[in-house]
Amino acid sequence: MQSACRCAAIAWRLDFGCGVVRLFRVRILFINGPNLNLLGRRETGIYGRTSLAEIKKRVLQRARSLRVDVDFCQSNHEGKLVDLIGAAPGRYGAIVINPAAYTHTSVALRDAIAAVGLPTVEIHLSNIHAREDFRHRSLTAPVCAGQICGFGPLSYLLVLDAAVALAKATRKQP
Ligand code: DQA
Repeated sequence: MQSACRCAAIAWRLDFGCGVVRLFRVRILFINGPNLNLLGRRETGIYGRTSLAEIKKRVLQRARSLRVDVDFCQSNHEGKLVDLIGAAPGRYGAIVINPAAYTHTSVALRDAIAAVGLPTVEIHLSNIHAREDFRHRSLTAPVCAGQICGFGPLSYLLVLDAAVALAKATRKQP
């Protein structure tokens, strides 16, 4: 008990008094791959008219009601995505990733996910299994805890519950 109090006191100081509670909150990293910055304008018959900014807004809103922290990012560059995954341990309890086209091609992303060992969930807006043959295979899904796909923007909200549960189940007690 005493050491828990000391730990909290140190954390408070490190946090400059901005909220020790936040320091112990579950943090989830959302990573979005190539062309997802074009959502809302891109192949709207498949991906719909909701922009990535709007999806982010909905995810952050839901995160607030769950009292968890979310960082939400997007890049078109494979190496940048690898860097984001590699920097996640110690900062996040779980990763949610929509690798977009890299789902079907990237050994580098698969290796990065396997290397960091953080619970990771793969998501897609569309049902990749009901589309072209080349989309049926995901190189990243086998190293993820699971995959959610086919629910449009709702995939991003459904996955938040899954990621929070995984992060809580695997986090070390302070
Ligand atoms: C996607 C599916 C991928 O096959 C595609 O390359 C994307 C989007 C999805 O969210 O449905 O860019 O990841």
